[in-house]
Amino acid sequence: MKQSVKLIAGNWKMNGEAGGLAEFAALEGDLETTPAPVRVAVCPPATLVDRLARTARAVEIGGQDCHAEASGAFTGSVSGELLAEAGARLVILGHSERRAGCGETDAIVRAKVEGALRAGLEPIICVGETLEQRQAGQTLDVVLGQLTGSLPDALAGTVFAVAYEPVWAIGTGLTPTLDEIEAVHRAIRDGLVSRFGDAGRAPPILYGGSVKPSNAAEILHADEVGGALVGGASLKAADFLAIIRAA
Ligand code: PGA
Repeated sequence: MKQSVKLIAGNWKMNGEAGGLAEFAALEGDLETTPAPVRVAVCPPATLVDRLARTARAVEIGGQDCHAEASGAFTGSVSGELLAEAGARLVILGHSERRAGCGETDAIVRAKVEGALRAGLEPIICVGETLEQRQAGQTLDVVLGQLTGSLPDALAGTVFAVAYEPVWAIGTGLTPTLDEIEAVHRAIRDGLVSRFGDAGRAPPILYGGSVKPSNAAEILHADEVGGALVGGASLKAADFLAIIRAA
């Protein structure tokens, strides 16, 4: 099975109120005029999913998290079904800011992935080591452990992506070397193939963590890098477009 087309996803995090709409319009306009040979997604705060989805044609819209259940007494939460109804097609799950900041374990992430699949959303499942873990030589153990624990068997035969995001590279301007990125991406690919057989060759493995216009080309052309999950640099259309055009 061949690897899927590259996916460049923007993660707006808790940003993007009024100013974000103009940036989105600029992004959408540019991609409609000159289509990109990659899939482009924007994951805004949940409140903006509906508004962006109404005008999105060249860009797919995603959520940044979803609850495992479809509905119920879960104050403050948004289900995959609600995101899908608002126009989302994808959802980021297990981002390190949720693992660390909201206590999400592999088991919680796995349940959310099942919820996303039930809602018909394409999950982007994040894994990544902390600086301490990398310095202790535990990177592959941590990443492969998260991969095993966060991916439900229900992913077999579905469309999904994995994002390798070293925690220490997120929002810091620091990035691993290309060799380091390729080593982790190859290990993730091997993990997917041993888990899902030949179908494990299809999911794109995105790199995330301080991707910017100046480093996008080399990262996006590295072995087994199937796209990028972009935080800060996705907030400005010009920067995000430069990354997309580098793919
Ligand atoms: P960054 O964030 O590009 O701002 O480092 C990436 C992410 O958290 O997905």
